[in-house]
Amino acid sequence: MSRTDECPASAGPDSASMIYLDNGATSFPKPDEVYRFMDSFYRRYGVNPGRSGYDLCIESGDLVESTRKLLCGFLGGTDPNRLVFGYNATDALNLAIFGLLRPGDHAVTTHLEHNSSLRPLWHLEQEGVAVDWVDCDAHGYVDPQAMIARLRPETRAVVVNHGSNVIGTVQDVAPVGRACRERGIPLVLDVSQTAGMLPLDMEQLGAGVICFTGHKSLMGPMGIGGMYVHPDVELRQTRAGGTGVRSAQRHHLEEYPYRMEYGTPNLPGIAGLNAGVKWVQQRGVAAIHEHEMDLWRRLRDGLRAIEGVTLYCADEVPGRQRISVLSFNVAGMVAGDVGTMLDVDHGIACRTGLHCAPMIHEHLGTDKLHGSVRFGVGPFNTGAEIDTAVRAVGEIAELGRGRRGGAA
Ligand SMILES: Cc1ncc(COP(=O)(O)O)c(C=O)c1O
Repeated sequence: MSRTDECPASAGPDSASMIYLDNGATSFPKPDEVYRFMDSFYRRYGVNPGRSGYDLCIESGDLVESTRKLLCGFLGGTDPNRLVFGYNATDALNLAIFGLLRPGDHAVTTHLEHNSSLRPLWHLEQEGVAVDWVDCDAHGYVDPQAMIARLRPETRAVVVNHGSNVIGTVQDVAPVGRACRERGIPLVLDVSQTAGMLPLDMEQLGAGVICFTGHKSLMGPMGIGGMYVHPDVELRQTRAGGTGVRSAQRHHLEEYPYRMEYGTPNLPGIAGLNAGVKWVQQRGVAAIHEHEMDLWRRLRDGLRAIEGVTLYCADEVPGRQRISVLSFNVAGMVAGDVGTMLDVDHGIACRTGLHCAPMIHEHLGTDKLHGSVRFGVGPFNTGAEIDTAVRAVGEIAELGRGRRGGAA
């Protein structure tokens, strides 16, 4: 019998017996408020929102609209109808990228993107979209001027990953956003890693479309995400389907939010995201970031002191922001083996490999090492957990030294 078959309805999270340092992949556990609200709301009002006029339907529709408003404000948007829900950031980035670019157009992006942007762009390159790929410096930061210098009259989108899921650097996108707005080019900003960890303001960042996922630092469940589309930006529709409104019409509705929403929404996901964002707001984005960065520094300093451990872009550069993921390798060990030892021998969960971001690994040279080991610190981690993780990596590095015959 699998673990899933065994799991009783009242089981607590397995996190009690492990140290979870894979928050870059998804935050876990979620705040209790998220589990409780998802359960209670879906039990009481789990009907298809906005499709009918009975009370339950109105109640579930109200939750969707109030969550729209909540997230619109959280991202610095002005029109809640332009906040559209989808499955995750990948879904939103696909809708944005395919909705903006056509053969003959030009786009600018970076080597730090996640496959959720890289693959749509690679696909479009094959169809005749020209893409300029801008690399980062040795610290993992892209020069905004280098991006601005690539803008052309036929540029129709600039796509930037705000916070790297591999090295944790946060790009200075405001100058790029300003230059884009002056030229009427939408900046598509992937805030998968920064939403809930840094204050975000569409206007200050100059974003045209801001794409988020619910299950990371926004503390919601998986399967919910979306985007805010600035009123000056028009996205071509690349899907069509039911909206529950004007069903006799033969083409998909043009007005927001229906324009970019298709089919039955993820109501339990929206409920969880609602509770997650409220939890983040109550705790404060700045306080969450400070807590995680304190632990990140403790982790970085501990790992840095271990012979045979190489950290990637882990210096804090004055005036530049970063988030709490940290990538490293252990000499003499493949990243995947380190991850297995951390899991099996030390009860520590992390992520190894290329982290769906192959270009930044090429830049680091870690593509030839099967990627890196990544720790992602979350709001529920403690200093004691970080110290245990550092000791565990120390033991693994010692094994690596043994394998290499004691050579550093
Ligand atoms: C920077 C970045 N962009 C996009 C994504 C995709 O998020 P999702 O899998 O929730 O669509 C991730 C997830 O790891 C990410 O870290």
